[in-house]
Amino acid sequence: MKKAFITGINGQDGSYLSEHLVDLGYEVFGMIRRHSVSENQTYRIEGLNNKITTFYGDINDQQSISNILKKVQPDEIYNLAAMSHVKVSFEVPSFTLKTNGLGVLNLLEAYKAICPKAKFYQASSSEMFGNSIDSDGFQRLTTPMNPTSPYGCAKVLAYNLVNHYRNAYKLHASNGILFNHESPRRGVNFVTNKVVKGAVEIKKGLRTKLALGNLDSSRDWGHSYDYVRAMHLIINNVKPRNWIVSSGQNRSVRDLCEYVFKFLGLNYKDYITQDEKYLRPEELKYLKGDSSEIRELLDWKPTYSFEAMIDEMVDSWMKKI
Ligand code: GDD
Repeated sequence: MKKAFITGINGQDGSYLSEHLVDLGYEVFGMIRRHSVSENQTYRIEGLNNKITTFYGDINDQQSISNILKKVQPDEIYNLAAMSHVKVSFEVPSFTLKTNGLGVLNLLEAYKAICPKAKFYQASSSEMFGNSIDSDGFQRLTTPMNPTSPYGCAKVLAYNLVNHYRNAYKLHASNGILFNHESPRRGVNFVTNKVVKGAVEIKKGLRTKLALGNLDSSRDWGHSYDYVRAMHLIINNVKPRNWIVSSGQNRSVRDLCEYVFKFLGLNYKDYITQDEKYLRPEELKYLKGDSSEIRELLDWKPTYSFEAMIDEMVDSWMKKI
């Protein structure tokens, strides 16, 4: 039985990845960071309670990582732990750099010392590109990285550390540069789930307005369920390397609002307002990823369209509220 260790196991991607690996027959271990409100912290992985093993730990705490790796001796390590909110990273830049940058260094050091034969996956992000776009309108592995947020800067640091550790110490370490990916398990302060939840509340008469930030930015949105499958393919490729995972299509936040409200029989223009507090000091305006390599070489393709994903999210909130 192969052993997988996942940091950030209780997040959106951690929960889908755990389910996928359990289905594939893996023994799954995960690390959870303690925080003061314990309620709801593990709701995404509750269905897996007796199928996975979790430990408290923190990628900022070198000892906790080393202790877990010694105990588990994993075959595969997935680093999904991060301060994942781009807007919040402007407010806690130092914490973001420590966690998303130096935290990865801590993990790489422990991996190199304790289980160097394991394979390593780093959750890299399209936020690393900032506003660089190739002339054909796509971002790809060769697109320059010009991050526009503390989050993006930290992810570039981690990306480079993974490349360096792979080259210097011959570790099987890969970066998956994932474009935005969503699901009903997405945090409600990310724009897709915020819009879907807000629109359903409006539909049900629980509110009359929804305040957002920039409606003109565009994102390449896919489903987390599909993207965790890409993570597993990436880590199991014979040769460690970097990959782009994306839908290859993009839509603006305005398009998202239009689709969600229309689906509910509403016109978004009657309900959406703009509030400066949701604007970012520097905005990443446009993301569209070229994922042709992973489609051709690893036979990956998404099963969800944008519409199918949003419909599932709407359905989930219609049942919950
Ligand atoms: N969160 C949020 N809230 N975003 C808003 C809002 C709002 O009220 N109004 C407009 N937006 C815009 C943001 O300015 C951004 O352009 C876009 O919606 C998407 O924002 P998020 O959903 O917060 O995602 P993100 O693109 O900043 O970051 C996500 O994708 C990255 C990959 O590119 C996160 O999942 C990151 O962790 C991930 O690395």
